[in-house]
Amino acid sequence: MIEKLEAIGTQALKDIQATSQLDALENVRISVLGKKGALSEVLKGLGSTSAEERPKIGAVANEWKRKIEDALTDRKTQLESSALQARLSSEKIDITLPSRMPHRGSLHVITQTIRRMNQIFSRLGFDVATGPEVETDFFNFEAVNMPKDHPARDMQDTFFISPSVVLRTHTSAVQMRALQTKEWPLRVICPGAVYRSDHDATHSPMFHQVEGLWVDRNVKMSDLKGVLEFIAKELFGSQTKIRLRPSYFPFVEPGAEVDVSCFNCKGKPQSSCRVCKGSGWLEILGAGMVHPRLFELAGKKSDGSYRYDPNEVSGFAFGMGVERIAMLLHEIPDLRKMFEGDSRLLQQF
Ligand code: DAH
Repeated sequence: MIEKLEAIGTQALKDIQATSQLDALENVRISVLGKKGALSEVLKGLGSTSAEERPKIGAVANEWKRKIEDALTDRKTQLESSALQARLSSEKIDITLPSRMPHRGSLHVITQTIRRMNQIFSRLGFDVATGPEVETDFFNFEAVNMPKDHPARDMQDTFFISPSVVLRTHTSAVQMRALQTKEWPLRVICPGAVYRSDHDATHSPMFHQVEGLWVDRNVKMSDLKGVLEFIAKELFGSQTKIRLRPSYFPFVEPGAEVDVSCFNCKGKPQSSCRVCKGSGWLEILGAGMVHPRLFELAGKKSDGSYRYDPNEVSGFAFGMGVERIAMLLHEIPDLRKMFEGDSRLLQQF
């Protein structure tokens, strides 16, 4: 029996060394140490051996069992670690490969320009006021001194929702909303989208304006000039000059169109300047002294006196196109480009 055990044990150790797979190793274990394995089969004959031989055979059998178990454990560890090595090298991640950059959004150039203007005006004490883009005929026209049949209504190609409701054609519509709801002294700017039926390289059916309104005792044209000069220098640089040209808007008297000196050729006109086309000046806004009619339309107090008494207060208003200013600042040649959603253009800002 002892020889049989030796033979089984020696063969088992060889088999264990020869395995290259974990499941093959398990098969070896079962075939030798399992309930019906070779070792157990031999030991079944133990009953027919003599009483002195039995402990010796038992000791040899136990010794082989231990050797085989140790060999199984060692081989298992070896096979597991080489399997791990194989996985590690086949699943290796190449960390030198450049990764995909995350896509970060940014504010649209128009939003950026409006925010910049809000910041500049807030330093002069202006609050931001807003109004609806779908506006009544009253606030868009009537309240800014353009009654029905007023020829100035033709200056703006209006989108009508109904005979008395329009898409606001200018942020001047917010002037009366501010006057009717706020007391003087008043200092507001009204940024927002406006709509006109117009479409070419410098006009879009939807664009943005910033309206300004300043009302107090003793407000003069020189105050308007001072504020506009400050704004122009903040936007276009400290060397910027402004000039006012007489103009007509129904809601101001007198009214003016305001130019800034070209920040590109520094007001020394060269016919080659691509920004001002050689004129040395860039038109940026309309402005003027608030027409007394608007103060009357702002309503009366319970005692019958005007809330904004034209004999007590005066004010100025101005309105400018945001796209025009963004185009000048960033030398964008075609306004439509800003609304086409082409991320290659938008990413530049
Ligand atoms: N509302 C005018 C427009 O859309 C711009 C404007 C001109 C606004 C003169 C004003 C102003 O407040 O005083 O073209």
